[in-house]
Amino acid sequence: SKSDMGDMSARKIIAGVGDDEDYPPKGSHQHNKVVPQLRLEELDFTPTCDIKSREAISAIHRAKSQLCKQQIVNKTCLIQNGNFYPKHLPNYCVSKNLAYGRHLGCYLDEKKLRLLSSYYGNYANINSPTFCLDICVQAGFPYAGVQYSSECFCGEQKPPASAETSDGLCDMNCPGDPSQKCGGYFTMNVYETGLDKFVPQVPQNSNIKEVSVKIVFLLTLNGRALRQVHRLINSLYRTNHYFYIHVDQRQDYLHRKLSKLEKRFTNVRLATKRYSTIWGGASLLKMLLDSMKDIIRLGWKWDYVINLSESDFPIKSLEELEKFLSANKGFNFVKSHGREVQRFIKKQGLDKTFIECETHMWRVGERKLPQGIVIDGGSDWIALSPDFVSYIVANHDELLVGLNVIFKHTLLPAESFFHTVLRNSRFCNTYVDNNLHVTNWKRKLGCKCQYKHVVDWCGCSPNDFRTEDWLRIQNTQNRQLFFARKFEPIINQEIITRVEQFIGFTDHNLISNLDAYWQNLYDVQDLTASTDDSLLTHAESIIRHNAKILAEEGCKIQLQEVIEMNVYKYADVYKGNLILYKALVNNQEAILETWYKPKQHLDLNVKNQDTEYIKFFKVSSDYDQKEMTFRNLGNILGPFSEPVLLYQFSPHIDKNVGNFTVLWLDPAGVVADVNMVHRDENNLTNFIKPNIKQPLLPGVWKVGLFDQTNTVAVTEFLITPLEYFSGKEVTQQEAILIHSGSQNSYKNISFVKPINFIPIHANRLLLAEISNANTKRINSDLMEWIDSLSIEFYNVLGSCILFNDDNVTQTDRVMCGKYKFQQCILSVWSSQSPDPKGFIGKLDKKTGRLN
Ligand code: UDX
Repeated sequence: SKSDMGDMSARKIIAGVGDDEDYPPKGSHQHNKVVPQLRLEELDFTPTCDIKSREAISAIHRAKSQLCKQQIVNKTCLIQNGNFYPKHLPNYCVSKNLAYGRHLGCYLDEKKLRLLSSYYGNYANINSPTFCLDICVQAGFPYAGVQYSSECFCGEQKPPASAETSDGLCDMNCPGDPSQKCGGYFTMNVYETGLDKFVPQVPQNSNIKEVSVKIVFLLTLNGRALRQVHRLINSLYRTNHYFYIHVDQRQDYLHRKLSKLEKRFTNVRLATKRYSTIWGGASLLKMLLDSMKDIIRLGWKWDYVINLSESDFPIKSLEELEKFLSANKGFNFVKSHGREVQRFIKKQGLDKTFIECETHMWRVGERKLPQGIVIDGGSDWIALSPDFVSYIVANHDELLVGLNVIFKHTLLPAESFFHTVLRNSRFCNTYVDNNLHVTNWKRKLGCKCQYKHVVDWCGCSPNDFRTEDWLRIQNTQNRQLFFARKFEPIINQEIITRVEQFIGFTDHNLISNLDAYWQNLYDVQDLTASTDDSLLTHAESIIRHNAKILAEEGCKIQLQEVIEMNVYKYADVYKGNLILYKALVNNQEAILETWYKPKQHLDLNVKNQDTEYIKFFKVSSDYDQKEMTFRNLGNILGPFSEPVLLYQFSPHIDKNVGNFTVLWLDPAGVVADVNMVHRDENNLTNFIKPNIKQPLLPGVWKVGLFDQTNTVAVTEFLITPLEYFSGKEVTQQEAILIHSGSQNSYKNISFVKPINFIPIHANRLLLAEISNANTKRINSDLMEWIDSLSIEFYNVLGSCILFNDDNVTQTDRVMCGKYKFQQCILSVWSSQSPDPKGFIGKLDKKTGRLN
């Protein structure tokens, strides 16, 4: 089978990261020995040079627009001619070794340094504080930033690789000295290597009388988790701090909603210049620098700027953060990789040129980093002083100008730019190796090369914290860590509530709907709304379904417009979706909300003894490998969706069925794809992306799992026909194109035919005829078809009515025929019911907090 077997293929690609293996060899058909040629006929311009880098040639070929191809060509030519990057940059750092003691945590003398460099390699200037830092930082610590296999250090001995535990820590006694543990946070045993003192950074803040520090929280946001962003702002808001908010240019929903805050609060500002800040992109640094420039321009008085994302959350009270920063004013907090520099450079791809266009980071070839400076990097979550920020944005010396050229063409630039500037500028003595964050790295899950469609590299992401990760947060209690990432209430909200309690929130018992979470899926004002064709088709069908139910009670509903769609979860369990819409209710205008949920579509074959072997067998889309969950909770799929099968075998031992077949049967009864599945005790959960071309034939698809000819499990999924195409009702011609499926491109794969799965010939003829007739359906005929399918897959659970004006009625229920509508505000499931944690509170003038 050609299907992408998730885990297996991903691991192969990751193994190639940082090696000379080309990325992505898949699909680009590159052969090691043959140097590919640039095909001039695909360009509508003449390249200014003969491009030699095969990575550049591959990028030019893969880029879609001529504009992007041209950008890649032009820059590649400049680089090839050797005039692009600086060859040498000045290092303005005047180190004060001993002054470092407190912040660095170690003192080194010349002799010891020489001893160390003989072991670690002469990768840094041994007189520079860089070297001291590289040794002192917590080796074996799971770094924020691109995650590498961390090495454990143990004095001068390298412990065996097995010392590293799965979560990236080191756990083993030191070879040669069993009384010492290697690796580990601040307890790394570095004494033997010649460091005679190791002083953890404990600020002397106990004797600080007056805490005065003003923080700019620079929020860089993406996604649709509006209520979580509100919760984050609620937790950090004080009148003396500031919020500067950048929202990814493509996320107009979040931007529109957050814009309202600017009007309410003078200390909240949204970036007006917005970027499509793709993962790992050069635009992320551009955005941060622009934002910092704007913060300075605003004339705010501040002592620190701290960047945070939608998935960050404080793990200490704001007062503790304020106290800590007051005690350390003037220092700059960044977290370093803490390993051998050359290795960091390789793994991070710093020695490669990347060009960003078409919201993609194209890798175009090798580059040489300038001499004369120390390269450093690690996490892109930072806390910077105004002096340093002013220096950076002024961009007036050779070092900065040079670094700017380099970092405009760097993958994950914010993970190295600030570190490198700090190390080589007059600010080098303000470097503190702490990003104030604890990051939930789980490399096995987070490094699946999941961004290969965005960057020509395999990146990693930290996991979301869940309730079971609580200890990891609790263990930060006595450490100088003030934030954690990542949190996503759509994955787990309980831990966020727990964190709030941990940091001193005492009013949870007063908060209604504390365990509920709503996340927006669709908003009528979305600029992209017209492209959500299957979502809108689906929503309207559900509303008609609901209208039919209510009609039986003498209540007539006519849909006017869908306003919003939301996902509703309670106590971290998915409870269904909600549609908010304008309608005529017995001819009166009203706003209604309808709650519905997908039905279960799993048939385990009860007669078959293998049934107990499968625990989960389901198709949806947007499978998140890192969080091991479908993001499309409502299973809303259209002809242009990419379905994914997720299955989980039970952990049985003494049974030697190992190989299974998966068949994908289209609505016309034709097998569209076949996959082989091996039940592996170490890999019981896995997913399959079938190799079926779009558009998918609309209707009910069946997926079966078979042991030889016996059925183990069968599930169904719906590909909804489209009522809309690009936001408009489909025309006859469009309907024929979109609803005809792609049967011509099904692969001819031989397999053992299971019993009772594939319809007999006569039935297939009938189904083919129906399918063919369906392609001709438009207007009300098309709606009927859509509704007949949707009713099989979804249950309507309730509806409520919304009053914008409190005076309209004092009753909590409204009659419509024999049906009693409850008011939405009183319906616990409704997106309109009170959710104080998810909305920005009222300003308490006395405390300066939001209540
Ligand atoms: C983190 C680090 O930021 C990254 O540099 C590191 O290599 C991996 O860990 P990760 O958790 O993977 O990143 O990414 P995420 O938090 O989703 O995104 C980072 C920032 O970019 C966030 O502020 C996010 O809002 C923003 N972003 C991301 C966008 O604005 N648009 C996107 O499409 C993706």
